[in-house]
Amino acid sequence: MTTLTIARLGHLGDGIAPGPVFVPMALPGEVVEGALDGERMVDPKIVAPSPDRVKAPCRHYRACGGCALMHASDGFVAGWKTDVVRQALTAQGLEAPFRPILTSPPRSRRRATFSGRRTKAGAIVGFHGRRSGTITEIPDCQILDPRLTALLPMLEAITVAGGSRSAELALAATLTDRGIDLAVRNGKPVEPALFAELARIAGEADLARLSWDGEVIAMARPPARRFGRADVVPPAGAFLQATAQGEAALVAAVTEAVGKAGPVADLFAGCGTFALPLAERAEVHAVEGEAAMVAALDAGWRGAEGLHRVTTEARDLFRRPLLPDELNRFGAVVIDPPRAGAEAQTAQIAASRVPVVAAVSCNPVTFARDARLLCNAGFSIDWIEVVDQFRWSPHVELSARLSR
Ligand SMILES: C[S@@+](CC[C@H](N)C(=O)[O-])C[C@H]1O[C@@H](n2cnc3c(N)ncnc32)[C@H](O)[C@@H]1O
Repeated sequence: MTTLTIARLGHLGDGIAPGPVFVPMALPGEVVEGALDGERMVDPKIVAPSPDRVKAPCRHYRACGGCALMHASDGFVAGWKTDVVRQALTAQGLEAPFRPILTSPPRSRRRATFSGRRTKAGAIVGFHGRRSGTITEIPDCQILDPRLTALLPMLEAITVAGGSRSAELALAATLTDRGIDLAVRNGKPVEPALFAELARIAGEADLARLSWDGEVIAMARPPARRFGRADVVPPAGAFLQATAQGEAALVAAVTEAVGKAGPVADLFAGCGTFALPLAERAEVHAVEGEAAMVAALDAGWRGAEGLHRVTTEARDLFRRPLLPDELNRFGAVVIDPPRAGAEAQTAQIAASRVPVVAAVSCNPVTFARDARLLCNAGFSIDWIEVVDQFRWSPHVELSARLSR
């Protein structure tokens, strides 16, 4: 048995004691006791709990790997996530005014990828267990919108029909304005009998759309999402913001950051989460790597009324970033890259005359690296808002305004 005191939290939400020793579900200041397995303490006993420790509000928490910070108070998690961003900035020699964090409520996640595996008795569907390949059932999940949890029996039926005991199905379910959009991957090949069974299950569950390894099997209605005044039908499995509250917070922040500036470039535009609401005020040029998402955005704009012009471009912004000559006509640029950030594109913005950047990021480290490039070119960070749509997880998201 070893006794340790936790010094800080790591980026996955584990407690870290000097060594380093990683201690799952432990908080800074806590004294813990347990056996060591290399750099990890297995099954730690909390000898002296932190005042920030709370009883996890979910009965699946110990087994399920979906959440990592349910044993900490909301106030602690909010402070920790804000500090993660602050430290990433400090590492780049940057400072910024912080707005209060906006955390999505429990049971608000509107998209989730479940894992499903056939078993002797039928099927098991849920999330992967904590650091394990096993699947944990989560009928009382506290993070998901209850309309997603209610899908579990239907997802089991799908897994029985189209899964196997050797491979796991990935079942990505999204709540849309017109019902559930379900995209399944790693399924068995769709023979006629399987097709008929999947179509039957989709009909019985009133799914808006069911797709199977990229192929649409059944569509009762186009699974549209409203962005501002436009209805968009995203391609199966496409990126969408995780909660309605998170999306509203990000759209409000981006809209405020852009202000009256125009025209606007929306880079890494997805299906138009920002471009379409922004088009209520200004012309927008939306650039995104996935051609199917660009087509969905364009169709949404064409079907909407009263919007300014939205032009679109399918383009790999890592390899072919917009150049200063292309950027100089914009009054503001919105940029929302994947976790890797947008180093190449940001270098071009830094070299351009663009006066305002509205940045959205799901990785504080790459955000700070890219913000450093802009600040080297005369920008400063006007404000940062941490938007926590991944409550109880160690993920950190933010929006920021930078201007010259
Ligand atoms: C964090 S998502 C943001 C999407 C959109 N702004 C939204 O809020 O819905 C990042 C987007 O970048 C796109 N993407 C990833 N790599 C890219 C690349 N190299 N070039 C252009 N787009 C890329 C993804 O397809 C995805 O739509």
